[in-house]
Amino acid sequence: MSGSYYIRQPKQVLGEVEGKHVGQDIKNIVILTGAGVSAESGIDTFRSAGGLWEQHKVEDVATPEAFARDPDLVLRFYDMRRERIQQVEPNAAHYALARLDAAWSGNLLLVTQNVDDLHERAGTQRLLHMHGEHLNAWCNACDARHPWRGTLMDRPACPACGVAGRLRPDIVWFGEMPYRMDEIYHALEQADLFVSIGTSGAVYPAAGLVREARRKGIKTLELNLEPSRGTSWFEESRHGPATLMVPAWVEEILGS
Ligand code: OAD
Repeated sequence: MSGSYYIRQPKQVLGEVEGKHVGQDIKNIVILTGAGVSAESGIDTFRSAGGLWEQHKVEDVATPEAFARDPDLVLRFYDMRRERIQQVEPNAAHYALARLDAAWSGNLLLVTQNVDDLHERAGTQRLLHMHGEHLNAWCNACDARHPWRGTLMDRPACPACGVAGRLRPDIVWFGEMPYRMDEIYHALEQADLFVSIGTSGAVYPAAGLVREARRKGIKTLELNLEPSRGTSWFEESRHGPATLMVPAWVEEILGS
């Protein structure tokens, strides 16, 4: 298990794959999703040409230092993102994963790096947002979290403690600790299959989960538009748009 959970920028680690073994019966599944799952709903990915991190520098909008330095810029950026996700709808990939969640009698955990709410709107219940959620605000005065759909730019008061100007987006920034890593590693310990969907494999610790899965010897599958940075760690990679690849895979696994 990784010693540090802090979110960090890409780090290439090469090494031997240990314990290669394809499990026979699949009972327990961990699925990791990234921005590629929501791309066809109209939400920009981060690292594609013209993606969010080409439009904005990570250091300007996605670190605690940026928030301390220029809170208006950071709050405006997340206000726009929060507004945008409320204008889009789940797509066929989100719905297929929700269908799998509803139908699968074994353990299943959908770990998403996405901060939109499209998985839950499609109906997925066994869901964990490791990088936070746009539709939550977090009070730095009293530590309470609140469902939030409006702006934070106008420095509203916290509904719990009443202090104004201390709410921030409930988003895990670079240098901060992703949420619920212990639950993720625990689910992976029980899993027979790890599936990664629509993520570039650029951000740790999420990008390291495939190696943890390989170390355990469980089956690993990547579904992505193109080979991700970590593609060689997967036993199997299938490339194409999520709205085609994910429903096809879900049909396959539910039919097997
Ligand atoms: P990226 O933008 O890094 O990667 C998106 C991946 O999805 C790329 O590999 C694309 O090729 C693929 N993709 C694009 N369109 C697709 C489609 N229609 N179907 C399938 N795949 C498609 O996004 P993430 O890997 O999610 O963190 O980025 C990880 C984290 O970096 C994010 O959670 C975010 C960002 O900084 C935080 O905000 C904390």
